[in-house]
Amino acid sequence: MAQYPNKRLRRLRYNPLIRDLVRETELSKNDLIYPMFVIPGNKIRKPVKSMPGIFQLSVDELTKECKEVAALGIPAVILFGIPEHKDEKGSEAYSPEGIVQKAIRAIKSEVKNLLVITDVCMCEYTSHGHCGILDGEEILNDETVFLLAKEAVSHVEAGADMVAPSDMMDGRVLAIRKALDDKGFTKIPIMSYAAKYSSGYYGPFREAAESTPAFGDRRSHQMDIANANEAIREVETDIEEGADIVMVKPAGPYLDIIRRVKEKFGMPTAAYQVSGEFSMIKAAGQNGWIDEERVMIESLIAIKRAGADMILTYFAKDVAKYLDKVRK
Ligand code: PBG
Ligand code: ZN
Repeated sequence: MAQYPNKRLRRLRYNPLIRDLVRETELSKNDLIYPMFVIPGNKIRKPVKSMPGIFQLSVDELTKECKEVAALGIPAVILFGIPEHKDEKGSEAYSPEGIVQKAIRAIKSEVKNLLVITDVCMCEYTSHGHCGILDGEEILNDETVFLLAKEAVSHVEAGADMVAPSDMMDGRVLAIRKALDDKGFTKIPIMSYAAKYSSGYYGPFREAAESTPAFGDRRSHQMDIANANEAIREVETDIEEGADIVMVKPAGPYLDIIRRVKEKFGMPTAAYQVSGEFSMIKAAGQNGWIDEERVMIESLIAIKRAGADMILTYFAKDVAKYLDKVRK
């Protein structure tokens, strides 16, 4: 092996064209999935205070924004619904007249060239804000899984192109796969939130989705932040149950997990750059403490470099605009 002075690693960095030539990781619009929040009403664009640039949108506004997202060349959105009424059993989650179901129908009839993915969970729809059906303070697994399957089917009946269960109940991917297949939706893929940690980084999202639990936390179903081998078991289980794409969440603080999942399974792997990751970069940028655009790109390149094939990110629109700008 060559040694200095024959070996000089700086030779491949000495001008921008050489750097372009040897770059190992590229961020593309095709990697992006844009999360959106839909609320009841008309002509509503309600800013999420802790997430600058992100809004809760009524269906009409959502549809408009989806046209913009598609025109920017972003291939997919993931929808979160804030229902009119919340109850113990999260009834609006699986109602054909639910907010997400209405939103899907509107987008599908008005927007071309956009994949509509839906988040499948109960926490936005339950009065107590938990991800499932409760018995006292316990979240019941199998009763919840039954309703999640109903929710997924109702999203697909409304026109969703893909479903993304985010609840972390045991057996939900299998139940959703079976329920979809029973209805003839054999071609609809499942992107499972396979390794989802019980993270403090979800704070701003809970404002956006109005889904803060009324008591307790999500530690009885989401993963312990300290565990990595367990993430492998979670992902393996979801693959066995029929997941087509597996997700790691959050992304930036869990690059080691993304890497291990990608290397071990070689599956299409998604990473969710969550609300707290977004808000921290925005806040520091707005204060002039960091260069927001530069750190945005760095954070996303790091997630891809770790092994992610696609990234759910609130920066999706900003990234698409940035890529248009630098390619000109
Ligand atoms: C719902 C869900 C959450 C997120 C995605 N789906 C919140 C949670 O588990 O509390 C978090 C997304 C984000 O923080 O951007 N289960
Ligand atoms: Zn949930």
